[in-house]
Amino acid sequence: MEVDVVLADGSRGRAAVPSGASTGEREALELRDGDPLRYGGKGVRKAVAHVNGEIARALAGLDAADQTAIDRRLIDLDGTPNKARLGANALLGVSMAGARAAAVSAGLPLYRHLQARDRYSLPIPTVNLLNGGAHAANALDFQEFMMVPIGAPTMAEAIRWTAETFHALKALLSQAGHLTSVGDEGGYAPNLRTAEEALELLVRAIEHAGYRLCGDISLSMDPATSELQHGDRYEFRKSGQSTLTTAEMIALLERLVDRYPMVFVEDGLGDDWEGWSRLTRRLGSRTLLVGDDIFVTNPAIIHEGISRGIGNATLIKLNQIGTVTETLEAIKISHEAGYRTVISHRSGETEDTFIADLAVAVGAAYIKTGSLASSERVAKYNQLLRIEEELGEAAEFGAAARQR
Ligand code: PGA
Ligand code: ZN
Repeated sequence: MEVDVVLADGSRGRAAVPSGASTGEREALELRDGDPLRYGGKGVRKAVAHVNGEIARALAGLDAADQTAIDRRLIDLDGTPNKARLGANALLGVSMAGARAAAVSAGLPLYRHLQARDRYSLPIPTVNLLNGGAHAANALDFQEFMMVPIGAPTMAEAIRWTAETFHALKALLSQAGHLTSVGDEGGYAPNLRTAEEALELLVRAIEHAGYRLCGDISLSMDPATSELQHGDRYEFRKSGQSTLTTAEMIALLERLVDRYPMVFVEDGLGDDWEGWSRLTRRLGSRTLLVGDDIFVTNPAIIHEGISRGIGNATLIKLNQIGTVTETLEAIKISHEAGYRTVISHRSGETEDTFIADLAVAVGAAYIKTGSLASSERVAKYNQLLRIEEELGEAAEFGAAARQR
């Protein structure tokens, strides 16, 4: 759904809200109509009616420049802990569009309106090249295999390296007789079965494109194991392979981290805090362990996770929590604890580019926004290119990721 906010001075802001397929259990609620006769129950007329009715009335007269007050009003109006009454999609659309309108009114680019700085760090893209899990109809259980152009000097070069590697991978897949159709996030979805096969292909694609593995381009992955978790086991149902205990899952991840350069592993385990703490002790000094479904961009949960030594980095998705202010809070808590942040798209995206500006504003180490196959993902990369061009010397690519 898309929201327009119009201010008294005529400034307009527009924002569209994405949707996930492999959602975390404690995410804010995305309100769908549930009417089977429209969009298979996925319509959003109720949420739209909330925006145009109750929410519009409650916000009229507030100062759009005061994002905290706007979001506080939205949260209070909804009145539930997970935004279930009005819908997180309704609230977030208004929250983001309000921020855009305020930026327009102030005559500022969105990233500068969100955070004024003398110098900005541009996030390193972590680009999904192979899709599995809930995002592809293949036999691969792990969800995402990514390349990370850590050695690129600029965003423009990082995106060129990515495009070249993406196409080198396509050629390799064709040669091997694989399908080159893509999954939900635009990475290829060949019928592989194991993580090793996927990572091996990425390594070869990087080399074929003429880059050095590790020095130029590293790897990352999101097994999205909350999708594999059934009770205290992880079931590899798509490949029809094994069922793993938590200890075996940790051992598998350790083998992969030992064998391949891995900037991060996201959601290495599911909803198992004790397991996460063991995983962090075991692998936390060697790679970033990013919490997505375990933290769901929720400041309170992240806070608890930090105090219990869970992971060492946070995935940030605006629609997991439902307002801009709470998202900024989640990022702040993470950064203050030394947790890196990865600003992320959803598998169901729109052409909205808010996350590109957000990643620059907050100085996120990484941005995860899919491959270069479809324009809802490319839109974010294009916005990052525009920001780099606009900032010139005031931007440094990858500064936050390289910081010790
Ligand atoms: P989703 O997946 O948008 O389908 O939830 C993205 C992720 O798990 O990071
Ligand atoms: Zn994830």
